[in-house]
Amino acid sequence: MNCIRVNTGTPYDVRIRRGILREAGNEIKKIFPHARLAIVTDSNVSPLYLRSLLDSLELAGYQNTPSFTMEAGENTKSLESAGLLYQLLSQSKISRDCCLIALGGGVIGDLTGFVASTYLRGIPFIQIPTTLLAQVDSSVGGKTAVNLPVGKNLVGTFWQPSLVLCDPDTLATLPEDVFADGVAEALKCGMIKDPVLFDLLADQEPQAHLEEIIARCICVKRDVVEKDEYDTGERMLLNFGHTMGHAVENWMQYQQRHGQCVATGMVMIARAQTAAGTLPAAVLDRLLAACQKYGLPTCCKAPLDELFKICRQDKKNTVRGIRAILLRSIGDSYIQNFPFEAFEAFIKGGAC
Ligand SMILES: NC(=O)c1ccc[n+]([C@@H]2O[C@H](COP(=O)([O-])OP(=O)(O)OC[C@H]3O[C@@H](n4cnc5c(N)ncnc54)[C@H](O)[C@@H]3O)[C@@H](O)[C@H]2O)c1
Ligand SMILES: [Zn+2]
Repeated sequence: MNCIRVNTGTPYDVRIRRGILREAGNEIKKIFPHARLAIVTDSNVSPLYLRSLLDSLELAGYQNTPSFTMEAGENTKSLESAGLLYQLLSQSKISRDCCLIALGGGVIGDLTGFVASTYLRGIPFIQIPTTLLAQVDSSVGGKTAVNLPVGKNLVGTFWQPSLVLCDPDTLATLPEDVFADGVAEALKCGMIKDPVLFDLLADQEPQAHLEEIIARCICVKRDVVEKDEYDTGERMLLNFGHTMGHAVENWMQYQQRHGQCVATGMVMIARAQTAAGTLPAAVLDRLLAACQKYGLPTCCKAPLDELFKICRQDKKNTVRGIRAILLRSIGDSYIQNFPFEAFEAFIKGGAC
């Protein structure tokens, strides 16, 4: 088994093993032997994996664990859902010595983390991520959030989980495009910090290497999160492909999956750098081939000027410009500040 310790303010372990869902009870018992637990999951995950988790909790001695099944989908990441959960938790007499379990993808992880961080001024929570994106990205790092009607992730907290259990076997039931979404974030981790990870994804069949892929992604994320828990510097590297990716996502009115938009965003940067002579064309070719292998798009129909308009309004960018993540090679990335005009000319230089 891979066990990765994340040394943030409150340290925690990420355990990655095929079948670990069925042993979750024993794993949780090691850190919360006496706590009452409550599970939050969604309507797709519940029929697939809730019984297995409940059985393992019962075997470990946790009786009558309540579970709350939210509707699957991004709309569930809302203040209304958080309000409903607060109510259900208090009706179930969940107190400060209880612990929540998020069983699901990034939506359930973000929502449960947000609720855990605010209910009774904060109770512990455990992540059992069931999408590749949640296993390689959102379950680690401690960012929690819900969306507002005006934008995504606008209300949130930093709240680290007490434990993360990743069972790669749960990924067998993921639709192909949802799996590819996670691959895009994994490719990103490889591009910014880990060339071996990139090669694994680009050259091998991922199903045979899931534990290693997940562990390597988490190590990349752990390394930057440990240096920059509250996202003021080094953690920016994780935004590779995200500046243009978010603009594409916004222009598509969130009808295209996040990972697909990130893939397009990564290719845009690599194309621009190749055109500017700061990145070998072979790196761009490797990235294009990897995206194509997983059916990830590499070009976007949106007019660039429309995307730039969105970038200028994006609260993540400063009033003066954009902090872009660029590459020296696969596995070696850096931050570069651009005034808006210079960034736009740079991207136009590599337009497809
Ligand atoms: N907190 C962070 O650091 C962070 C980082 C990246 C993304 N996110 C957030 O994560 C969310 C996206 O996460 P996601 O892609 O996991 O989406 P998701 O949670 O909506 O899951 C995608 C779909 O897969 C279904 N599903 C989940 N596990 C399954 C399984 N094992 N088998 C079959 N179906 C399954 C879900 O019900 C859903 O329909 C976004 O809201 C994004 O903002 C957060
Ligand atoms: Zn992302």
